[in-house]
Amino acid sequence: MQKSAKFWNSIAEKYAKSPITDLKAYTYTLDCTRSYLKPDDTVLELGCGTGSTALLLAPHVRRIVASDIAENMIEIGRKKAQDQGIANVEFVTAELFEAGAGPERYDAVLALNLLHLLEDVPAAITRIHGLLKPGGLFISKTICRFGPEVPLKLRLMKLVLPLMQMIGKAPFVQFMEIAELERIITMGGFEIIEAGNFPPSPPMRYIVARKV
Ligand SMILES: C[S@@+](CC[C@H](N)C(=O)[O-])C[C@H]1O[C@@H](n2cnc3c(N)ncnc32)[C@H](O)[C@@H]1O
Repeated sequence: MQKSAKFWNSIAEKYAKSPITDLKAYTYTLDCTRSYLKPDDTVLELGCGTGSTALLLAPHVRRIVASDIAENMIEIGRKKAQDQGIANVEFVTAELFEAGAGPERYDAVLALNLLHLLEDVPAAITRIHGLLKPGGLFISKTICRFGPEVPLKLRLMKLVLPLMQMIGKAPFVQFMEIAELERIITMGGFEIIEAGNFPPSPPMRYIVARKV
């Protein structure tokens, strides 16, 4: 099992119970994402966690394939779908580079709070580009590099991160500059059509990009 799968499996139960940090920002980007989706769309979500967002978007599209590297996250997602009577979300355990294998191409691919966890973001963007139909949308949200303006707790967490990673208590994380992230997405064959920081601090960059 991959190191990151082991970490995310181990925290799945806790993750499922933790409240959304900034509900206003979450609701805003959820509404925004929904506004880009159409009733006939087929959507692939990468790194879906326990599927909360996929289940909220499900009534607005034809089908969602919700994928995640961590089996325990996926199991919780499946159970939530069953409890909520939602039948058009297919939960799949898969690493980003394996998700969506097969001939199907998607109207939209979502990567929410995921790109900062990947070691090779340009390769991921190339992969996502290949998964989309012509003109398809890539919608992402990514925590980006922050400075001393963030609360002390966050700065301390960043400081002890290498130690936590060494003992397997934190995953790989990289904090890209917003400009660098947007350059990678653009270089990967996308046109950015909407972007903003929700919330602004630490900057969670929300980007809607169209495959060109
Ligand atoms: C911070 S959580 C975000 C979950 C959800 N998208 C959300 O916004 O609440 C990151 C998720 O990405 C998954 N993940 C991490 N690395 C991954 C990879 N290489 N491929 C697929 N999923 C991955 C983790 O298992 C975890 O569920």
